[in-house]
Amino acid sequence: MAKRVFLAKRTLLLKSSSTALLKAAAIIRRGGLVAFPTETVYGLGADALNERAVQKIFRAKGRPQDNPLIVHLSSTGQLTLVACQIPDRAWRLAEHFWPGPLSLILPKTEALPANVSAGLDTVAVRMPAHRTALKLIELCGVPIAAPSANRSGRPSPTSFRHVVEDLSGRIEAIIVDEDCPVGIESTVLDLSGAGPVILRPGGVSREALEEVLSEKVRVAGLLPQEMAPQAPGMKYRHYAPRAPLILITGAPLRRRVLTEELFCYFSSQGLRVGLLNAALLTESASGGPEKFAAALFGQMRRMDWENKDLILAEEIKPQGLGLAIMNRLRKAATRVIKVL
Ligand code: TXA
Ligand code: MG
Repeated sequence: MAKRVFLAKRTLLLKSSSTALLKAAAIIRRGGLVAFPTETVYGLGADALNERAVQKIFRAKGRPQDNPLIVHLSSTGQLTLVACQIPDRAWRLAEHFWPGPLSLILPKTEALPANVSAGLDTVAVRMPAHRTALKLIELCGVPIAAPSANRSGRPSPTSFRHVVEDLSGRIEAIIVDEDCPVGIESTVLDLSGAGPVILRPGGVSREALEEVLSEKVRVAGLLPQEMAPQAPGMKYRHYAPRAPLILITGAPLRRRVLTEELFCYFSSQGLRVGLLNAALLTESASGGPEKFAAALFGQMRRMDWENKDLILAEEIKPQGLGLAIMNRLRKAATRVIKVL
C-alpha cells in the first residue's frame, strides 16, 4: 500500500484587516484550513458543509477520528442549517449567551457531513464573541467547523504564536490577532437529552446557566459511576505540558506549605521546577479566576519552552470559571496529592 506523506505547506500569516479576512474566507470556501481567533482559544476552521475540508482538520491536528468538532455560526439564523428539533431551552440560552463561550449539543441535520460530528447524530454549535471570528464566518457564508487550533494532546492555543508552534506548515493560513481574552474553551452543554448536562465546563459557568434556565444543570463526570467521559474528546489526555504535573489539593494553607516544600526539595535535587499558578492564585483570590484562566494554557506552554522537569500547581475553588480551570488542571496532572 502506498505510504501517505504529509506535504508541508507554506502557512500564510494574515492580519485581521478586511482584505486579509477576504483572503482567509476565500481559502476556507475552496476547502482550505485557516486558524482564527475566538474569545476562548484559537480555532482551526474549515467549511462545515464540505466533508473533504473537514477531513483535513483531523489530519492537520492528528486528531482521533471519533472526536467531533464544534460548528461556529455568525448568526442564530444559521442554526437550523446544522441542527434540528431545537428545544425552547436552546433558543433561550442562545439569546442570552450568544455570541459567547457556550456550545450547545443538538440533533444534527442531514446537511451536515458525518465526519463533523464523528458519526454521532448530534452536533455542537456556538456563535463566538469575537469580531474577527464573526466577520470571517460571515464572509465565508457557511458555518465553520473548528476545533482548538493545537496539535492533538497539546494545550489549546491562546495566541497566534501557539498556533504557529503547533501547525505551521500543516495549514494554509493563520490570522494574527491579539491573545484570546477568555483563554479557556467554551462550555459544552448537552441539550439532546431530558435535562441539560455540562459535558465540558468552560467559559460560561454552571451558575450562569442555571440562572437563565431556572433549573438544575448537571455536570457529567462528577459522580464516580459516571467516570466514562460523555464528550468523546474528554477521554483523551488533554492540555498536557511535556513535564509531569503534580496537582496539590486540600486545605489552602497546608497545600501552600506543601507546594513550597516540594519546590525547595526538588530544586535542591537539581531539577528545574515550575510553579504553574502560585503567583496567579494570589492575584485571583481578589480578582476572581478570570485572570488565571486567561494565562493558564500560555503558562503550560512556557513550562515546555523553559524545559521544566517538573510542574507544581495548586487547586482553585471549583466555582464560576474555577470549575473549568480545575477540569483542565486535573486532565493535565500526572499525579494529584491531597493534603488533609
Ligand atoms: O472554545 C471552544 O470551544 C473552542 C473554540 C475554537 O470554539 N473549540 C474547541 O473545540 O475547544 P475542541 O474540538 O477542541 O473541543 C470540542 C469538544 C470536544 O471535547 C468534543 O468531544 C466535544 O466538544 N463535542 C463536540 N461535538 C460533540 C457532540 N456532538 N457530542 C458530544 N461532545 C461533542
Ligand atoms: Mg481541543
